[in-house]
Amino acid sequence: MSRTIFVTTALPYANGSFHIGHIMEYIQADIWVRSMRMAGNTVHFVGADDAHGAPIMLKAEAEGITPQELVARYAAERPKYLNGFHICFDHWHSTDSPENVELSQSIYKSLKSAGFIESRSVEQFYDPVKGMFLPDRYIKGECPKCHAKDQYGDSCESCGAVYTPTDLIEPYSTLTQARPVLKSSEHFFFKLSDPRCVEFLQEWTTGTHAEGRKRLQNEVIAKTREWLGTGEEGSEAKLNDWDISRDAPYFGIEIPDAPGKYFYVWLDAPVGYLASLKAYCKQKGMDFDALLDPNGDTEQVHFIGKDIVYFHALFWPAMLKFSGRKTPDALHVHGFITVSGEKMSKSRGTGISPLRYLDIGMDPEWLRYYMAAKLNAHVEDVDFNPDDFIARVNSDLVGKYVNIASRAANFITRHFDGKLGYQGDTQALQADIQKVTDEVRADFEAREYGRAVRRIMAYADTINQAFDAAQPWVMAKGWADASDEQKAALQDICSRALAGFKALSVMLTPVLPALTARVASELFQDGESYTWDDAVKLPVHIEKFKHLMQRVEPKMLDDLFEPPAVEAPTPGGEPIADTIDIKDFAKLDLRIAKIVSCDEVEGSDKLLRLQLDVGEGRLRQVFSGIKSAYKPEDLVNKLTVVVANLAPRKMRFGVSEGMVLAASHADEKVDAGIYILEPWAGAQPGMRIS
Ligand code: MSP
Ligand code: ZN
Repeated sequence: MSRTIFVTTALPYANGSFHIGHIMEYIQADIWVRSMRMAGNTVHFVGADDAHGAPIMLKAEAEGITPQELVARYAAERPKYLNGFHICFDHWHSTDSPENVELSQSIYKSLKSAGFIESRSVEQFYDPVKGMFLPDRYIKGECPKCHAKDQYGDSCESCGAVYTPTDLIEPYSTLTQARPVLKSSEHFFFKLSDPRCVEFLQEWTTGTHAEGRKRLQNEVIAKTREWLGTGEEGSEAKLNDWDISRDAPYFGIEIPDAPGKYFYVWLDAPVGYLASLKAYCKQKGMDFDALLDPNGDTEQVHFIGKDIVYFHALFWPAMLKFSGRKTPDALHVHGFITVSGEKMSKSRGTGISPLRYLDIGMDPEWLRYYMAAKLNAHVEDVDFNPDDFIARVNSDLVGKYVNIASRAANFITRHFDGKLGYQGDTQALQADIQKVTDEVRADFEAREYGRAVRRIMAYADTINQAFDAAQPWVMAKGWADASDEQKAALQDICSRALAGFKALSVMLTPVLPALTARVASELFQDGESYTWDDAVKLPVHIEKFKHLMQRVEPKMLDDLFEPPAVEAPTPGGEPIADTIDIKDFAKLDLRIAKIVSCDEVEGSDKLLRLQLDVGEGRLRQVFSGIKSAYKPEDLVNKLTVVVANLAPRKMRFGVSEGMVLAASHADEKVDAGIYILEPWAGAQPGMRIS
């Protein structure tokens, strides 16, 4: 009973590069997809860029390019990440595509004719200078509660109060600094409060799909119950109608028969799942409508993070249902990745750049393995801890798993010309393998990856223990005089270990697709890559063992977190960079800083930690790769120059809030010294350099 499954991951906003949170989501989904495929199911796995919305429009405008150009720039770098981490999407699309326009408009029209769309006049803040309605995040002002200045339109970062932009004291537009005015405009609403909708969602959120599995995780159901009311008599559903329109100027899809009105980005974004599948179907000559027939057998599964559950558990199924389409079968919701216990922020990321990870030559499968070891089926955050990462990869993956092959294969190559041979009954061995494999396979399907990995490693322990207990190195001693029984016994113990190793390789295939493909094609030469059924097939031959996987060098983790030593051109080495205009220069906020204190950073041979006074009434911590050139005590109380508006960067040792300017040779290998800048006498901390 092979299944057909349509799988997506959330569509990333197209105004930035992938960060480690995206990669975690893709790895989680990719492992699941591979595991389901290994069971013989047909899986269509697609993604796309979420291209529309005000932030993308405004960012493009600030850069003097079209939104399409901005989106294209990020789209162009996607494959580097996806291929780099072995993410096996069948297709990658964009919400700014003809398929999405057609599907979004058609869904809207169906909703409208079914009576789910209503229009109302809405009063909103409008920036009279910019000539546009302002999304909440572009309005700031004084908190009505604690009177903190420069708070966002929806909530106060200082006291935590939640309010609407009109509550702000002295509001201003962050785009033009102008005072926004209230202006009314016609908006379209999706009637989520319609009793049909509430009733449907109560059923959908608590229902089951394939083989009686729940559609939603328990903690997600609990959330939706809060939003929907419990469904019991007397408990009112609190769903508000959903404002799905935005006024021009907006980068989005036009609403049919409503000139100057566009769909709010969150309406057309999930439709992008369908648009991507549709484009893929066209490419492959598959029937899109048949695939997503509301009465058909295709399962539709969305992997998403915990922050976008509302959209996926309420809006999205309701939109599909009442436009007469197939509704999703399951949401697979994950928590967030933190790094050494710290949350990542949208603006500063986590300090681990996926691209840097690849660039410094770290193995993508280490990260896949580490993520797998940490993930489970709950909506729990996952912490990336450098020391834990090193330990898991080196002691589990290399020390336990790869180790079996390197030890056992050598005996087989040396004494048996690569031929495996088993003594006596192998049924018990195969039964063991079958049992573990079935459990692991079920764990993967249930997204209990951590449990799967623990079982796999426990089985690796068993194999290693049996191998050690048999003392094959003793059996191999005095080989010239060894009896036939002794020889057969050595071949048997090594063959059993290798059969176990092969089974482990099958079980690790969803996590380590590249490594296990090499095991199959190069080592055992029994296929291109494994399916679940291969686990119990005992290998009969092995090639000479080749190096399979490097250990992690702790130094790599330092490189992953540290910025390149010091950014600076000087004598020779580097031509002068492209010309910029004064506007580009003005983006840099260079300030005089006083070095209030300075110390060495334990565990780093390059960095010093500086506490800088930049005239803000607080100190900033900045890490600088100048340890080779300066003693901490020589820097204290000196003035220097700092890039004050560089996004803070999380490093292994803490957050660095700026960059100290220094000169050095462009080529790191040429040691011409490092020279930090010092202003002429009279400069004061906080002065701007222009
Ligand atoms: N564009 C919307 C999604 C539209 S889906 C129709 C969006 N984009 S996003 O780029 O902000 O996030 C994409 C996915 O990455 C989401 O599932 C989000 O939860 C996930 N993550 C963002 N930060 C994350 C972490 N720190 N950790 C793990 N996943 C995170 O939301
Ligand atoms: Zn406040």
